Amino acid sequence: MKKVLITGGTRGLGKEIAKIFAKNGYELYLNYVSNDDEAFKTKDSLVNEYHSKVNLLKGDISKKEVVDNFKIDGLDVLVCNAGIDNVCEITDKTYESFKRVIEVNLIANFLLTQKFGLEMEKIGHGTIIYISSDNIIDKNDYVTLEYDVAKYGLLMLAKDYAKYFKKVKIHTIAPGWMDTSMNDIPDEVKCEFSFVSTSEVAKLVLKQVDLMDSGNVEVIR
Ligand SMILES: NC(=O)c1ccc[n+]([C@@H]2O[C@H](COP(=O)([O-])OP(=O)(O)OC[C@H]3O[C@@H](n4cnc5c(N)ncnc54)[C@H](OP(=O)(O)O)[C@@H]3O)[C@@H](O)[C@H]2O)c1
Repeated sequence: MKKVLITGGTRGLGKEIAKIFAKNGYELYLNYVSNDDEAFKTKDSLVNEYHSKVNLLKGDISKKEVVDNFKIDGLDVLVCNAGIDNVCEITDKTYESFKRVIEVNLIANFLLTQKFGLEMEKIGHGTIIYISSDNIIDKNDYVTLEYDVAKYGLLMLAKDYAKYFKKVKIHTIAPGWMDTSMNDIPDEVKCEFSFVSTSEVAKLVLKQVDLMDSGNVEVIR
């Protein structure tokens, strides 16, 4: 049975990604940081609906000791999905708020890739997907300064690891706005936004993994 680790895999986009991998017979390793209720609910629904093997990995992935403690033998797919934002005026941004977003959205994915990517390279196969954002294409704004820096950084992380890896495939996906708790907008304002569906993005993640596994996509190095 193939194994997938999805960070932030118990809510929002991560939960949809978990569903699609469950449907496709993967053993799931779902990371989250604090929301136990959602994590247990997600695990129960995946076990009931797809009879999946689900392992919950609670922990803050921006901490090296947490990532070092994740033990998964022969991981096939790593989806670096967990993320946070901090939307505010430039004048309200602080050293702490900037650092925190960089830690969770960028440094955590370096830690995970150093651990699991290098293990995958050693065993000779594996696929890694980073979830970035379309802010890095054309939706950036100063209110999301540190988020945009981190999400652009993921692109370079993927490109540089791709130069190193011989066996591991790595790719970045940059979705548009999705209707998750990250966008905590009042319902009356929501109708003014056009959201991308989380299940469509999740399908794209699996499709990209399958394409890279079958060698049908050119990996940019
Ligand atoms: N929503 C959008 O419009 C949008 C658009 C483009 C890209 N994205 C990206 O898509 C990804 C998923 O976003 P989402 O909207 O699904 O977010 P979400 O609903 O807020 O869920 C975030 C998930 O990440 C986990 N998490 C947060 N900090 C963590 C940490 N330090 N260590 C481990 N897990 C942590 C949360 O765990 P808990 O449940 O325990 O809190 C939760 O499971 C993010 O990378 C985001 O930047 C989102």
